[in-house]
Formats: sequence, C-alpha cells, structure tokens
Amino acid sequence: MAMQSSRKITSAPSLETIDQYYNAMRPFWHPVLPSEDLADGKLCGVELLEEPLVLARLNGQTVALQDLCRHFQARLSLGAIEKVAGSGDCIICPYHGWQYNAEGHCVRIPQLTPGRQVPREARVPAYHTQERYGLIWVCLAEKPRFPLPELPGLEDDRFLLGPIRRYPSWTASAPRVIMAALDDTHAPWVHGGLLGDRSHPEAPDHMVGRDGQYLKVQFIMLQPDNRALAGHGNDNQLREVQISTLVGMPNVIHFQIQPRDADGQQCMIIWQAVSPRRYNQTDTYWGSARNFNLSAPAYDEEFEKMQDLVREQDRRVVESQRPWLLPPFWTKLELPLRPADLPLIEYHRWLEELGISLAL
Ligand code: FES
Ligand SMILES: [Fe+2]
Repeated sequence: MAMQSSRKITSAPSLETIDQYYNAMRPFWHPVLPSEDLADGKLCGVELLEEPLVLARLNGQTVALQDLCRHFQARLSLGAIEKVAGSGDCIICPYHGWQYNAEGHCVRIPQLTPGRQVPREARVPAYHTQERYGLIWVCLAEKPRFPLPELPGLEDDRFLLGPIRRYPSWTASAPRVIMAALDDTHAPWVHGGLLGDRSHPEAPDHMVGRDGQYLKVQFIMLQPDNRALAGHGNDNQLREVQISTLVGMPNVIHFQIQPRDADGQQCMIIWQAVSPRRYNQTDTYWGSARNFNLSAPAYDEEFEKMQDLVREQDRRVVESQRPWLLPPFWTKLELPLRPADLPLIEYHRWLEELGISLAL
C-alpha cells in the first residue's frame, strides 16, 4: 500500500469545511449557558459556532442577539441593560450608546440629528432561545430542524436532580465528544476499574435503532460496582448493568442505567448536552438524576468525583483524535468494527445524512 502523508488528517480543516460544518449545525438547538448563570439585569457574551452572542433577560424574556453592534461592531455584551421609554428593556452599546430592543432593532441613537429616523438597517440578528433542563438553548437558523429533545426523568417528581456541571472546554469537535459518550467498548481500556474491566473486553450486544429525532441504543455490560449504580456497596464486584441510551441528534445524550441485580425500578440518569463553541472547542453540560436514595442529598460528592475522573480520562483521548471534524462515513478513513461499534456507525451515518460529517 502506498504511504500517504497524514498532514491532511492532522492539520486544521479548510475555512470552507469549517463553514460547511457550522452551516450544518446551525438548525439545531444548542445549549449555551446554564440558566442560573444569567442574572437579571446582566449581559453575558457567549460563542456558538464561532458566532458571538449576547444573552440577556429583557422584559422577562431570554434573548440572544448577535454580539456585534451594527454601528462599529463593538461587543454589546460589554454594555448594559436600561429601560427605554416606549421600548422596554434595551441593550445599550458600550461605545456610543445605541439602544437595541429584544428583537435586535436599534430604537434610539443618541447622536442622531433631531427629527431624523433611526435607519432601518440599524439592527442585529436575534436568535431563537428557550430554557429547559436548567440550560439556555439557542438555535441560529430561522427554523429549527428538530424540537428540543424530550429527556426522560428530568422533569419527573420521582427523580432527584443533581447539579448541572460545567468543565473547561475540550479541544475537540462536538460530534467527537458525543461519540466518546456513545462508545462503550473503550470502558475497559480508558475507565478500567470504574466503568469496565480489562478481563472482559468483549463488546456488548447492542440494539440500535432510530426513532424520530433520536438514536436509541440498548445493551447490557459488565461494570465494576460504582457510585452510579443503585445498591452500590462492593467495589470489587462486577455487576451486569442495563443501559438505555437516547441521543437527541446531534448533540444531546442521555443514559438510563439500571443494575440487573437491583430492584428493576431503580434508575440513574446521566445526561450531557454539548455546546460547539468552535469546530475544535466544545463545552459540555453534564447532569444526573436518580430515583433511589431519595433521602440523601441531591449532590453526592463521591459520585461527582467519580464523574470528574471519568471525564478527565476521556478528555486526553478525545482531544487526540484527528481529523478535527468527522470525515464522511463513506471515506472509510476510520475503521469501525461490526458489530462492536454499531452505535457509533449509526450515529456517524446519520451525521453524514445531516451534512455534519463532511469532506476533509
Ligand atoms: S459601536 Fe455600538 S454604538 Fe458605536
Ligand atoms: Fe469514556
């Protein structure tokens, strides 16, 4: 076989490829900030698909505007919120004080010659926002491709919700972060002694299917007894664990985890929603919920410590993967195995159909 240079795989994608990726990701709902991080009366600048956004609560509504003033492109998020007569709460640009309403229309320009109208072009894009599951979500396209995913257990009184956790960004693309969560055969290698066991590297028998906007995967695997399992007690014991995974395409993943030896109703939920700040920079919001040990505090320090360790174990491997953006499935650049990697194969195929995995 002819030797090929790996430069095309390891170098940054072209600007065209990055733009294609961003355009393909725009029609989805992406989490941008935990709700509790946006205080009333405060502005918050975030980035989504390299689009700068200013978030604010104006007249009781959460809004996301492009964070570039139409005048001379200063960051609106450096400004302030003030009430403007006839327009309600407005965002005031820090540079020359142009005032924008919740729809992104400039309603007042302090320097305007008396009697002149605010130009019609004096506006910035306003994007769809909603708040759910403790997060603020934004869609950058005019029409979202799918509604926000319905995540079982997170709005259910029978479950106790853990806190939403934030971590420093991973230097990786969003699909690679989701794939790391969807990939179970790495558990004995990356998370040996925690989520897998090296003497049992065999792949589980996965049931994989699509249902509307969801990829669904079910399987049983052997895990060392760990803090996420109902009836946890003996660290040295291996237990059969049933895992039901739901991927809200393309950026939300939700697991229901039930040890087979515990009461069948006891369930731990772990979920994550990823925020693609840039093609190679991804934030992940993590949450959990459980319907057992309800009298113990929702925040379980030992469980969170274990999750932190698992995430750190994943991070170094995921950050090492190239190319940055997933190549199209058909290029066969990667070599997924059947049936072991079926969940990843199906996810990857679907990303290709959505235009999210692209030419190199
Ligand atoms: S740059 Fe915003 S008002 Fe001038
Ligand atoms: Fe992992």
